[in-house]
Amino acid sequence: MAAEGVPRVAVCPGSYDPVTNGHIDIITRAANIFDKVVVGVANKPVRKEKTLFTGEERREFIKEATTGLENVEVEVFSSLLVEFARDQGASAIVKGLRAISDFEYEFEMNQLNKKLAPDLESVYIIASPNYSFLSSTGVKEMATFGGDVSDLVPGPVSEALSGRLER
Ligand code: PNS
Repeated sequence: MAAEGVPRVAVCPGSYDPVTNGHIDIITRAANIFDKVVVGVANKPVRKEKTLFTGEERREFIKEATTGLENVEVEVFSSLLVEFARDQGASAIVKGLRAISDFEYEFEMNQLNKKLAPDLESVYIIASPNYSFLSSTGVKEMATFGGDVSDLVPGPVSEALSGRLER
């Protein structure tokens, strides 16, 4: 149990290349549960190829989309996630879960992170039905071929995608 008066902090980590409305939904719901949520933009996710947007661009997109959420901060990190979480004073890592296909990867990450930091709890929020199909990769693929993604990502992301990707 958190000591009285000590704020409960969670980190919401991800590559966010780019952030989608599904991510914003998870961040918003996490912000309703925790006193403070620090969105952690992984600067160099090992399993992803080169990112489309820089860490700073990805951070700006999220900052802009979460301006109405007073207890949300956004930081870029290049360290281990558990170290970032400790630096932020977090007691929990919050991640979104869509379909069963997410489970295997999240299960592995959970076990690795737990081994490194047993005191840090991972918490999973199930994606809202509206967003259960939504991924950054899918959005990039749609935008590459001129598909309209304006319902799927924040406005500035949609604009940036069409400028950068359209073939
Ligand atoms: O869902 P994502 O975008 O692949 O998540 C990225 C991240 C960093 C949250 C995930 O890869 C993770 O949990 N990694 C744990 C290992 C770690 O600390 N990597 C350092 C990334 S800078």
